[in-house]
Amino acid sequence: GNKSSPINHARYKEIISTLTQKSSWRQSQQLHKYQSFWCFPTFLEGIMAAQEQFIAHPTDIIACSHPKSGTTWLKALCFAILTRAQFNNSSTNSLLAESPHDIVPWIEFLAFTGKNRDPELPLLATHIPYNFLPKSIVEANCKIIYICRDPKDVFISLWQFAGKVRDTSAEAFPLEDALEKFCEGVNAYGPYWDHVLGYWKASLDFSERILFIKYEDLQNDTFSYVKRVAEFMGYPFSAEEEKRGLVQEIVEFCSFESLSSLEVNKSRKHSNAVPIKVEKNAYFRKGKVGDWRNYLTVEMAVRVDQITQQKFSGSGLSF
Ligand code: A3P
Repeated sequence: GNKSSPINHARYKEIISTLTQKSSWRQSQQLHKYQSFWCFPTFLEGIMAAQEQFIAHPTDIIACSHPKSGTTWLKALCFAILTRAQFNNSSTNSLLAESPHDIVPWIEFLAFTGKNRDPELPLLATHIPYNFLPKSIVEANCKIIYICRDPKDVFISLWQFAGKVRDTSAEAFPLEDALEKFCEGVNAYGPYWDHVLGYWKASLDFSERILFIKYEDLQNDTFSYVKRVAEFMGYPFSAEEEKRGLVQEIVEFCSFESLSSLEVNKSRKHSNAVPIKVEKNAYFRKGKVGDWRNYLTVEMAVRVDQITQQKFSGSGLSF
């Protein structure tokens, strides 16, 4: 049945205690290797609970990503597309009042907190790698939208984000050491390249079910992508809506400049969406393609690119 049993923290903790551990950018928690990816124990409890208990509805649409690939943007766009009937009314447009992360829940943290999902909203998100998604997502044939990004920008975004969630006493983690960890794949939900490849291969096998998007392409032509995403979700824009300029309105509303200037997204309050202390503003930094150039040396960039070429070789995927 659909009845979820209480989360068995003790059992999950016991399993987690047996996993291989490595030090991370955050001093307070070690990363643990679980099912071939690395993650923090607090996240893993939620992931295990989701894998055992999450029940997808066939109409659910799941926004998937590796952290720092553009998830916040994708959540906002998908939500705006779905709820566009309420979009033009400032009292009903939730994105004006809440962070995209507090609107579109993480599957792995829903299960962990025991919170109920909004049964009216067929939109959820997850960072879980494709091969380890809760079975019911694949069995129910849910539509999946995956966003990925140039690994160099993902790395810089992650490093900057880690600086914001780091325990206040801890020193900044040197860029060189952070890059070493990232290249080894030792970061939450890493290795990054394996995460991307998992969804990429699935998107080739099940193209009607999985839409694969690059952050850079989305930046380059947001208008076309919003239409494509809406079609894929099963909520295409009508000719009349297009004529009214609704697509462009959503593009503009969800732009970095627009979303990041909303009070709620500038807030220093912690988001309830994740089991770590993160200020809501931490999800908005620069929103640019190629910001890695301001941080990485040529050698560092070449090193990342070589890993990318090697890992993606023969896959048809490149950055
Ligand atoms: P930068 O750190 O490079 O600025 P995620 O949402 O997966 O955590 O990824 C965060 C990255 O997406 C950050 O990148 C953030 O600034 C950027 N971002 C957030 N909202 C965005 C938007 N509306 N448009 C474009 N980029 C956005």
